[in-house]
Amino acid sequence: MHRETWIFGYGSLIWRPAFRFEEMAPGYITGWARRFWQGSTDHRGVPGAPGRVVTLIPEPGARCWGMAYRIAPADLDEVLRALDHREQGGYARHDVPLYLADGRAEGAAWTATVYLATPGNSDYLGEAPLAEIAAQVLASRGPSGSNVEYVLRLAEALEAMSADDEHVTELARLVRGRAQEQGTSARPDRPAERRGAHRPRPSEGSPGAELSVEDGGLSAAP
Ligand code: SIN
Repeated sequence: MHRETWIFGYGSLIWRPAFRFEEMAPGYITGWARRFWQGSTDHRGVPGAPGRVVTLIPEPGARCWGMAYRIAPADLDEVLRALDHREQGGYARHDVPLYLADGRAEGAAWTATVYLATPGNSDYLGEAPLAEIAAQVLASRGPSGSNVEYVLRLAEALEAMSADDEHVTELARLVRGRAQEQGTSARPDRPAERRGAHRPRPSEGSPGAELSVEDGGLSAAP
């Protein structure tokens, strides 16, 4: 039996993990599709004016690419505590079979913990036309920054791993186009996190990096 502990990120956890891990590896899970159907009132929106962030929807045959992180046993409790806090806006932990791009996790004998938000949670927004989702994204901002940043960072991160996701790509295209029409910036708020910033000990965040509420509540960004 495989006993390593992996966390699979498919949203902000791809581009801003902000927790200690021993290894990161691109991978995918099957039977789940990534959708901007979860409302965010604590990171990319506020109560009464939620932003839109991703969750996973069951879809037979679907493949969702993301980033898998191997966590040292000694760090596990602390990492899960921080992630439970960060993902408290409607997400719960689930175990899913994990496949790594390098083929190590063949045969679904490996599992990963994933945070997913199901329709039962009070922030769930559900399906909407992409044009409506884009308009909501452009209008939303929360304690972790703009909703636009969330969408564009995710699209860029997936593109960097050559992972196809039509829903995300199309939404990013709409958001960029609308922002251009409105003469507003569709640039993410801040520079991308350097990948080395969350390599194993002793570092916990890159020196001088702006940590947001999304970073597990380590310090709140304005
Ligand atoms: C994830 O990234 O895996 C969960 C959703 C999010 O925090 O954006």
